[in-house]
Parts: sequence; structure tokens; C-alpha cells
Amino acid sequence: MQNIRNYVIIAHIDHGKSTLADRMLELTKTVEARKMQAQYLDGMDLERERGITIKMTPVRMIYKYHAQSPNPKHQILNKSQISNSKSETTDSEQEFVLNLIDTPGHSDFGYEVSRALNAVEGAILLVDATQGVQAQTLYNFEMAKRAKLKIIGAVNKVDMATPEQIQDSKRDVAELIASDPSEIFECSGKTGQGVPELLEAVVEQVPPPHRHPERSEGSRDSSPAAQNDISRGLVFDSQYDEHKGIIAFIRVFSGSFSLNKNYYLVATGAEAKTKDIGYLRPGFTTSSEIKMGEIGYVATGIKDPDALNIGDTLTDIKPSSVEDPKQLALPGYREPKPVLYVSFYPENSEDYDDFKKALSKLRLSDSALIFEPDSSEVLGRGFKAGFLGRLHLDIVVERIKREFHIPVVSSFPSVAYKVKLGKYIKGDTEEKDLEPAGDGMFWVKNPKELPSDPAEIFEPMTRVEILTPTQYLGAVLSLSELYRMMDMETNPLVGSSDKMLVTAKVPLADLISDFDDKLKSVSQGYASLNYELIAYERANVDKLEILVAESVVPGLTRILPKADLEREGRRTVEKLKELLPKQQFPQALQASWRGKIIARETLAAFKKELGNFGKNGGDRTRKMKLWKKQARGKERLKERGVQSNIQIPQNVFKELLKK
Ligand code: GTP
Repeated sequence: MQNIRNYVIIAHIDHGKSTLADRMLELTKTVEARKMQAQYLDGMDLERERGITIKMTPVRMIYKYHAQSPNPKHQILNKSQISNSKSETTDSEQEFVLNLIDTPGHSDFGYEVSRALNAVEGAILLVDATQGVQAQTLYNFEMAKRAKLKIIGAVNKVDMATPEQIQDSKRDVAELIASDPSEIFECSGKTGQGVPELLEAVVEQVPPPHRHPERSEGSRDSSPAAQNDISRGLVFDSQYDEHKGIIAFIRVFSGSFSLNKNYYLVATGAEAKTKDIGYLRPGFTTSSEIKMGEIGYVATGIKDPDALNIGDTLTDIKPSSVEDPKQLALPGYREPKPVLYVSFYPENSEDYDDFKKALSKLRLSDSALIFEPDSSEVLGRGFKAGFLGRLHLDIVVERIKREFHIPVVSSFPSVAYKVKLGKYIKGDTEEKDLEPAGDGMFWVKNPKELPSDPAEIFEPMTRVEILTPTQYLGAVLSLSELYRMMDMETNPLVGSSDKMLVTAKVPLADLISDFDDKLKSVSQGYASLNYELIAYERANVDKLEILVAESVVPGLTRILPKADLEREGRRTVEKLKELLPKQQFPQALQASWRGKIIARETLAAFKKELGNFGKNGGDRTRKMKLWKKQARGKERLKERGVQSNIQIPQNVFKELLKK
């Protein structure tokens, strides 16, 4: 274990984690130079297309450390400790196993980061020198501190930053992690400058693996499992493989795992009939065993996606054979808290079971995705799914489309409201339809469930922290004209010369519209945002319904502040007219509030393409004849009451959310 270092790179979005990881893969010769491509660890097509990391990716690297480090000032391990632990190569060279986990930067994927932090002992906190400390840097730092990791500060992109920017960023990072600016590393993921020194610092400063994820003194694992050196691995991630079943990514905290043994999951009791075992280098690389302190994978052969939960413990003891199976479990993870809900209904009702399987498989590699059955009179059976933010929702929708090819209809994204029921109106949502939320209240996670006359509605509120260069402060504060921002406070960021920290209370519903995009555009990308849910507060909101051809489109129902209903109603039908594809017949687009039509537009009918009738655009009379024939056909369909079933494309929801 003395020769292993487990660490993560954490940073605000786009500060260069994956690019820095590329240089580490090169330096350690983990990936051959000719096979190298930018952001190598972003393996998903979606990640590469969007240039963002969505999933954490572990990789095992073999690093030759030279004992005569040119940077003795960075050492916290003394030389004798390192020498004692060496696996001999040459006198001055020792081999170390470096397990790196590259993490996403966007706050919607914070759950990925938090799980990665519990599988390692150290973190490189990376800050883009041209941007300085950002909101997500503060958040990541707090998480790493809570996980009791050794934190190494580094400023990146020094190839393009001015000396002044580098000094300022180093000072801010040092202030944040309570260190000295001289201890903060300078590097460039682009040119590779400073990366060898950073790798040396990982060996010298990050402690070798602990036997237990809880690192604080006094909370040592005293369970019989730990004392007897039973094999135990924390499942921090997983993915589905058609042939090998669920592949569990584990950090081994005690004992070892080998190819010829079967294992068990403590929480579900499921048995893993080991199909493969090994390391990620970064591809799956079979090994005969993975040992205490290491990070690797176990292909479990389990085909039922519900049999494995992230945060569960994989062990060699059958849980049913011990008196208290909980004793076998390593501390797991806190459940992620969704902030945004969308209901999905398969377009073809016979796809329901396949859709359920698809969501379960997706959940294996995206454990922040939460779903439960839902149904709609019009749209049939489906699922209500919870997300950690708008980007998370976008990514899941895209993955359902690409990976499972099941056409689905969805509802408008909504936050979860709590309601006290009022007078029951016939045909309305009833108590039995809703999930209790305590204190005599009920959850409303899909706007269509909001009863017509609730006694009281409560909405989730957030505490928002915006970090902005002083020159954009005015622009940032002007956002309060568009969004409900309350109790605003502005303070200089401690230790920084030109950054301001704006805090405000903002309803979550406002935040999930395009708050983030607007903030970026008013500050030219320089301001950053972080938020946390703080409370539920009474809200003056009501339901806006949209009708197409006089019937309510359940997916477009929204809950909005009463003061905005009329304006939003009008805007929605105007936007729909612009965005929806033309239909067979002209259709009425109406916005309705409590049964009253508050706005109306007409969606035009399309004329069917008639093809090319000859060189000069064709014979006009023949075209007219065909148009007439089409019109008669449509008339007949209309008489028979055949209406076109309008589907709402996903981008329409996104457009409608914009302020
Ligand atoms: P997320 O995981 O999505 O948060 O991004 P990331 O932190 O992994 O950043 P990534 O490595 O994808 O880099 C973001 C952008 O910055 C890319 O366009 C990189 O080419 C660029 N970049 C990264 N490091 C450097 C650097 O040291 N110098 C310069 N000039 N550009 C860099």
C-alpha cells in the first residue's frame, strides 16, 4: 500500500482537468503518444462533442519516481518513509501506482465528484490562472476538506496567463487552502510545463491508502469485518455490459479480490459470479487480483440492474450467513437530492417495459438519476424522473435517445412543490394520488398534479453564491430585474483584490430557467454560480395550461408566479407558433388559467411538398389541382374527427424556459 497514491483532480468547469490528465497519461506512458487524443479520459461521444466531462473516470498509472526530487520543499513524507516503501527499480528510482480519478466540473455532476472523493486520499485543486478562483472551486474545496483529503493547489493554463494573473490566482488558491503562494504549483496542461513536478508532489504529499474511508481519528472501523481482513470494496461507480453483466468499480478497503472467487453485495444480498476483474488503464485490463488500497473493477455477471446500488459494499462474506450484515458495510454515500423533475412517457405504450429497463441500466452509470412510475390519462404509463439540474436533464434525454432508441414524450421540467390541499373539485387530483410530504402536506412534482384550488403552495428556495470580477458586478445585480432575487448581499471575496461575492435567496424554479446562461452572458463568462437548497417557502403561484386544438397538452402544463401567468401565457403560444412544426390542419394554440383562455394563436397547416414538375417549376394547373385534392382530403379527415397528435420536441421546452 505504501507504493499506491489515489487522487482526484477537481476544478471549476473548463479549468483544464481532463487536459492535465492527458499530460499525466503521457508522462507515465499509460497511453502511447500515437494513440493520444485531447481529453482522452472523456470516453463518451457526448463528452467529446460537448467538450465537457460528464462522468468520473478512474485510471491506473505506473509512475517512476526519482528520489532526488528537485522540489524538497513540497515534501510532507520524509525521504526515509518513501525509501522504506520502495519497490526496487534502481537506487534513485521507485515505482508507484497512481490511481487518478478525473472528475466533471459542472455543478450538475457534483454527485460524481463527491463519490470520487471517498475513493481517494488526495486532490489536486486546479484553478485556471486566467479566471482565478470560481464558485465551483470553493464548493469542490469544501467537499475535499470534508472528505479529509490532502489538497494540492495548482494554477493551470500558465502558458496563456499573464504573470500578474498567475500571481493573483496563486495568492487566492493559497488563501483558500490555507497555504503559502510558494506552495501552489504552476502548470500548463497544454504545454506540459510543471506537470512532472505536480506528479512528484502527488507521491510526496498524498498519503498512501487508508484502510477505511472514514479518516477522522476516533471513527476507526472497529467492526469484525475490518479486523478479520475480510475482502471489502466500496462500489463508487458501475456500468452495464451485455456479456459480463454489471461491472462494479471499486476501491478496495480491506483484503483483496480475485478472479476465481464469487462475491456478494451487502445491501441487496446479490451474488456476483465474477466474470472478470482488473484495473482501468484506462481500458479494462484483466488482472488476477486487486488488492487493499487499490482501485479496480469487478465484472459481476449480475444482469438485474436493481441488484446493485452505488455506495454498496462488495465482500466475500455471504451477508445472510452473518448475524448483522450491516456490520460488513463500508460507509456508503448520501442519496443525491434531485432539484428538477420531468415525466417521460414512451410514445408507443408497448415500449413501457423496455423503457423501464433502459432507465435502470442508465442509472447504473448515472446514479444521480432517480425515477418512479407515473401515469397520465393522455400519455399513458411512464416515469417521473429527478435530476440534479438542467444540464443533467439534457444529458439524460440525449442518452435515452442515443443508447436505447426509445421515442419518448416528456413533460415540462418542474421543481417539486409542497401543497396543502384545499377544496376538492371533481376530476381533480386527490389526496391518494399524491405522495405525503409531512406536516399534512403533499408533493407535487409534475405540474399537472397541482389541484385546481390548493389551500397553500410552498416552493423550494436556494441560497445562491455568485463570484464575479468587480467590473461585472452591476450587470450581475441587474439580473434581479428578471429573476426573483431576495436578500441580496455583496461582499469582496476574502483575500482577493478584484472579486465580489454576491449572495441571494432565489426560488429554485427561477434558477432552473436560464439563470446560468444569463449570468454567463451578462458577465462575458467571468461570473460563476453555486447554490444550495435552503428551505420551502409559501409561494404565490398557479397552474398555466396550454391547449392545442382545444385539448390540454399535459406536457406543457407549468406552475408559475401568478403575476407572470398572463405574460407567460401569451409568450408561450407565440413561441409555440414559431417552434412547432406545421400540422395537417390549422390548430388553435391557447393558454388557459383556471379555465379562462388568456392568450390565443393559430398554428398554420402545411402544404405537402409536391415535388418538381419539370424544369421551370412545373405545371401550375397540375399543382393547383393537387393542392385542392389535399385540401379535400384534410377536410374529410377533419369531419371524421381525426386530429393530428402534436408531439412537443425537447428543444421546445428549452426555448420556453428562457426568459
Ligand atoms: P470539464 O471536465 O468539462 O469541467 O472541463 P475540464 O476542466 O476537464 O477542462 P478541459 O481539459 O476539457 O479543458 C477546457 C479547455 O481549456 C479546452 O479547450 C482545453 O484545450 C483548454 N485548456 C486546458 N488546459 C489548458 C492549458 O494549460 N493551456 C491552455 N492554453 N488551454 C488549456
